[in-house]
Amino acid sequence: MSDFKERAEALDTADELAALRELFILDDSVYLDGNSLGALPRHVPARMQDVITREWGALRIRSWDESGWWTAPERIGDRIAPLVGAAPGQIVVGDSTSVNVFKAVVAATRLAGEGRDEILVDATTFPTDGYIAGSAARMTGHRVVPVTPADVRSALGPRTAAVLLNHVDYRTGRLHDLPGLTAAAHEAGALAVWDLCHSAGALPVGLDAHGVDLAVGCTYKYLNGGPGSPAYLYVAERHQTVFDSPLPGWTSHADPFAMTPGYAPADGSVRGRVGTPDILSMLALEASLDVWDGVSVDSVRAKSLALTDFFLECVAAYVPEGRVAPVTPAAHAERGSQVSLRCDDAEAVMRALIERGVVGDLRRPDVLRFGFTPLYVGFADAERAARILAEVLAV
Ligand SMILES: Cc1ncc(COP(=O)(O)O)c(C=O)c1O
Repeated sequence: MSDFKERAEALDTADELAALRELFILDDSVYLDGNSLGALPRHVPARMQDVITREWGALRIRSWDESGWWTAPERIGDRIAPLVGAAPGQIVVGDSTSVNVFKAVVAATRLAGEGRDEILVDATTFPTDGYIAGSAARMTGHRVVPVTPADVRSALGPRTAAVLLNHVDYRTGRLHDLPGLTAAAHEAGALAVWDLCHSAGALPVGLDAHGVDLAVGCTYKYLNGGPGSPAYLYVAERHQTVFDSPLPGWTSHADPFAMTPGYAPADGSVRGRVGTPDILSMLALEASLDVWDGVSVDSVRAKSLALTDFFLECVAAYVPEGRVAPVTPAAHAERGSQVSLRCDDAEAVMRALIERGVVGDLRRPDVLRFGFTPLYVGFADAERAARILAEVLAV
């Protein structure tokens, strides 16, 4: 056991991202739930105090212009862009992921044109994507074809309008082949729509490099934007002039204050906006993104893989054989930034872990999830979590 503790200490000492932990408010628990709700960056409360008392309290309506409130959705989109490999002008922040899935799926069917009546949807998806795609399909006269990511290639065909996939599976932590599946969709003449909720901020995405058409993601997980912070929508530049939003609210109008009865879409990512942005959440997100200044996503990915490797090694060494089984793939190319362990009494085990200061979460019926956020989780945390897991399982 002490061997792992010593290794953890050495790995933490050598970790070039270790100092970033100080940027967050944390306690002495091991927080492995940043894949659900990221931790609070230390400077955000003071920034929000200023937003509330000065920008809202003192400047009131003037802040739409003077404090840059009106342009926040596209400005913050440009802050997220480098984290997901997008050039500026293609991401807009606002609404929930669910709403952005709706915009993206309907827009994709419109971009695909006539004669294609199928939408392939990840059968293992986070449920909201499937619910929304089902409704979008009914509204647009399409049919949803549920398909596991491994079977997407064989399911693609001349009838496929769009494919809606998760970059990382929320339950298993499996990383899907975004470059390969995007290329396969394109070969079939279809559009590729990706949900980045569990990858943005944890690993390189390369939206532009891989020719993704549309993408959505949330900001409250690895991007630490706060509970319910707004999601984002990516529309590749080549599609923007024909991107036809199913929710053409007034803030996506070319001249919103002209208040004309006829709709004329704005250019660029602004076209993905809907209504008045939720400024408080949005500005908390904007402030929280400061922690990324000077941080490379490649180094985050390297640390994430090292952390999850080390955690799996500690689990294998500490936990009695057969008590848990990893469901997250061992291969780096197939692993996101979480480790999921199948465990018969997962619910009771997670309760006991949380009581002992190891905060992960549970996906019923039998999956323990441990998310590793490289900005603030260290190797000693991974060792401690595995050790306490073994203690809990030994009871
Ligand atoms: C993969 C995925 N998609 C969508 C969502 C839901 O997003 P929202 O609640 O912002 O609509 C989640 C939430 O955890 C998720 O993990």
